[in-house]
Amino acid sequence: MKILITGGAGFIGSALIRKLIADTQNEVVNVDCLTYAGNQDSLVSIMSSSRYFFEKVNIVDRSGLNDIFYRHQPDAVMHLAAESHVDRSISSPGDFIQTNVVGTYNLLDTCRAYFDQLEGSKKELFRFHHISTDEVFGDLSMEMAPFTESTQYDPSSPYSASKASSDHLVRAWHRTFKLPVVISNCSNNYGPYQFPEKLIPLTIINALNHERIPIYGAGDQIRDWLYVDDHVDALYCVLTKGCVGETYNIGGHNEMKNIEVVEIICELLQELVPDNHIKYSSLIKYVEDRPGHDRRYAVNANKIKDELMWVPKENFKSGIKKTVIWYLSNTLWCDRIFSGKYQESTSEGKL
Ligand code: NAD
Ligand code: TYD
Repeated sequence: MKILITGGAGFIGSALIRKLIADTQNEVVNVDCLTYAGNQDSLVSIMSSSRYFFEKVNIVDRSGLNDIFYRHQPDAVMHLAAESHVDRSISSPGDFIQTNVVGTYNLLDTCRAYFDQLEGSKKELFRFHHISTDEVFGDLSMEMAPFTESTQYDPSSPYSASKASSDHLVRAWHRTFKLPVVISNCSNNYGPYQFPEKLIPLTIINALNHERIPIYGAGDQIRDWLYVDDHVDALYCVLTKGCVGETYNIGGHNEMKNIEVVEIICELLQELVPDNHIKYSSLIKYVEDRPGHDRRYAVNANKIKDELMWVPKENFKSGIKKTVIWYLSNTLWCDRIFSGKYQESTSEGKL
């Protein structure tokens, strides 16, 4: 099958493409405009495959998208391209509306025109998989049960509101235009190649550089952490086995307070790279809370377990150790991201 993936140079998209090229015979078309979060360094291991194609196109560009659909004739779409960082959505919400809402609309409508002219088994088997987040369900108190697929949407941030909008658009294109869609809503991911603005990579890199580790508010907000390769396995499962029109929640069964996560990382670093001059946890600094900060996310992932037989392989202890070791062994990847060298070299078309 030929899968068109949007946002394949990002954290989760690149993990998905590395898996699809390494472990399956599928072809992949990566549509990514390479924002600050898109990094072709993350795809070096599969870039020379004859089954991998890269198209540097913004999903807001309708004619660019149209051209890609007709040239590549995909069998499925997996839509991951998004602005994804809550803090940036607070300082610059417009980018989130453009990519996550307008971009998703463009992709859906281009895909609909392409789907309408398909015939036979190519039409019957075609899928549009929209990759979304548990943040669309909003804030959970400690007493509330984890999110299920029927939990009411109640997004808090410009990021989660823009993702909720995109989910609604996808459902409308299914109901009104019969586009064969599947949707998944996943909890917080962590793992290799995550841009170091999110809590886990930021903590690792700041600690190694002996810089302060900012904890918003009291650090008692809870997230349900999932190792990125487990998410990728779940995504492939939803694409290939999910029922058209259905939504699947994906979660890690790892509910933890932010401060606990940061302390575990500091302890691991103390063990793996002991430094006589500093105790990494002494770098923790409580700072002003994020506006509108959701206190807790937790996912009930029973549906995907019962219907599609997916369960995560990693627990937090095993996944975080792999992640910390990856960042310790890949300082060049981080240096290139921070120095801007990656952006310069990709704009010249080389690495
Ligand atoms: P990311 O920010 O690491 O990557 C996003 C990618 O999309 C980048 O490669 C970027 O260049 C590309 N992109 C952004 N705007 C684009 C545009 N207008 N046109 C083309 N490409 C564009 O994001 P991620 O963490 O890999 O998340 C991927 C998807 O998964 C997102 O839709 C996100 O909402 C969802 N998700 C993420 C998490 C998480 O914890 N990271 C959890 C659940 C769901
Ligand atoms: P983040 O990784 O940005 O993911 P999200 O906001 O999508 O859940 O943040 C995870 C949690 O960590 C969230 O509750 C905000 C908090 N956080 C900090 O306390 N300090 C930080 O520097 C960052 C980036 C996040």
